[in-house]
Amino acid sequence: MINGYFRCSITSLYLHHHKYKLIMSKIGVFYGSTTGTTEEIAQRIAERLSVSTNDIHDASKLNEEIAGEYDVLVLGTSTWGAGELQDDWYDGIKVLKKMDLSQKSIALFGCGDADSYSDTFCDGMGILYEELKSSGCRFIGATAITGYTFDASTAVVDGAFVGLPLDEVNEDDKTAERIARWTEKLQKQIH
Ligand SMILES: Cc1cc2nc3c(=O)[nH]c(=O)nc-3n(C[C@H](O)[C@H](O)[C@H](O)COP(=O)(O)O)c2cc1C
Repeated sequence: MINGYFRCSITSLYLHHHKYKLIMSKIGVFYGSTTGTTEEIAQRIAERLSVSTNDIHDASKLNEEIAGEYDVLVLGTSTWGAGELQDDWYDGIKVLKKMDLSQKSIALFGCGDADSYSDTFCDGMGILYEELKSSGCRFIGATAITGYTFDASTAVVDGAFVGLPLDEVNEDDKTAERIARWTEKLQKQIH
């Protein structure tokens, strides 16, 4: 503790006149998923962050009121077509772009296939980033490209992925560790 004040990962604890005040950052997880892969990953990420199932939402249900409830938005999308956003995000992203996100932290994750779609690996995550980058939000959870094999991705900005890419098609054996490391890092970045 430094000067009667310290911060920990999800919660911030302030010492004031001998009273402790607990301030929680509320986390909401939103996913767009066609065949259920990103939905399942959203549940696994939520579990690691101690987010209740009530705070996991399908992107197609996203509205200003729901998104407004959270301090931290964890947004996940798969990639379809050749480098396109998952369908359920098209309306959801419009909702988010209309909101004031300046007080919010946003963490992105994506599901893709680095083998069959090596030129557009997790581009959907790159699109979410591109759409939101001028919103004033704080992005958290960038990931080093080390350990991934792919040719190109719009989700790589300044040499790192803008969020957590996962490949359940070819590398599902790496997913648990990737999620564990990422959520641990997120908890340090959330305050
Ligand atoms: C027709 C088709 C197009 C795809 N395009 C891409 C792509 O451009 N980039 C990528 O990384 N993955 C691509 N994928 C892989 C999916 O994103 C991946 O299977 C993902 O896990 C699906 O998640 P979902 O069930 O949550 O939608 C594609 C898959 C299919 C079947």
